[in-house]
Amino acid sequence: MPDPPSTEPNGPALDGHAPAGPVDPDAFRHVLGHFCTGVTVITTAGPAGFACQAFAALSLSPPLVLFCPSKTSATWPVIERAGHFCANVLTDGQQELARRFGSSGGDKFAGVPWTPSPRGAPVLDGALTWIDCTVEAVHEAGDHYLVTGRVTALGATRAGRPLLFYRGRYAATDPGSGPTEVVDTLLAWPHHSDWI
Ligand SMILES: Cc1cc2nc3c(=O)[nH]c(=O)nc-3n(C[C@H](O)[C@H](O)[C@H](O)COP(=O)(O)O)c2cc1C
Repeated sequence: MPDPPSTEPNGPALDGHAPAGPVDPDAFRHVLGHFCTGVTVITTAGPAGFACQAFAALSLSPPLVLFCPSKTSATWPVIERAGHFCANVLTDGQQELARRFGSSGGDKFAGVPWTPSPRGAPVLDGALTWIDCTVEAVHEAGDHYLVTGRVTALGATRAGRPLLFYRGRYAATDPGSGPTEVVDTLLAWPHHSDWI
């Protein structure tokens, strides 16, 4: 049975099209919140770091990733000065880290165990994996920057499940259910080897 239309306040009716015209910020958040992401903590030497869902693989050759810090981020200028960063992919047991690094100020690293990446950025204990990068390019993008990073080292991957962020809440995957069809479709895609 299909999911019922959203009944959340400020949400547009999802069984029809949103009206044309200026984009309402609440509607933007509501609709874009339906795009589920993982959660990373982007760190750099200092140490400094912030929680970031706007992270993605970008290119295999050369190996590039991207992340998008807000122009108000206090961590971004530290990363820009250092010229490198490490993206820590959080597990579903690391919500507390997402909360801690999702707020500004204070000593975010107090009591948080970490070891330095090859470039000296914190690798948080227990992270699902990590990606060490140098800053390749920075683009202005509205109230954020779009930062591309060249991958210089990759962490080991550990068993565990990712922390997800969906509709403004943390979520976790349930390996016992879900749309396996989507995976089959992806694997059957003729150009699958072109993508990651
Ligand atoms: C789950 C989650 C995802 C977030 N994703 C982003 C993001 O993609 N970009 C961003 O600029 N801030 C994001 N934030 C907000 C920042 O982590 C937050 O503004 C933090 O205070 C920034 O710290 P800083 O000012 O020390 O850099 C996210 C927060 C959480 C909890």
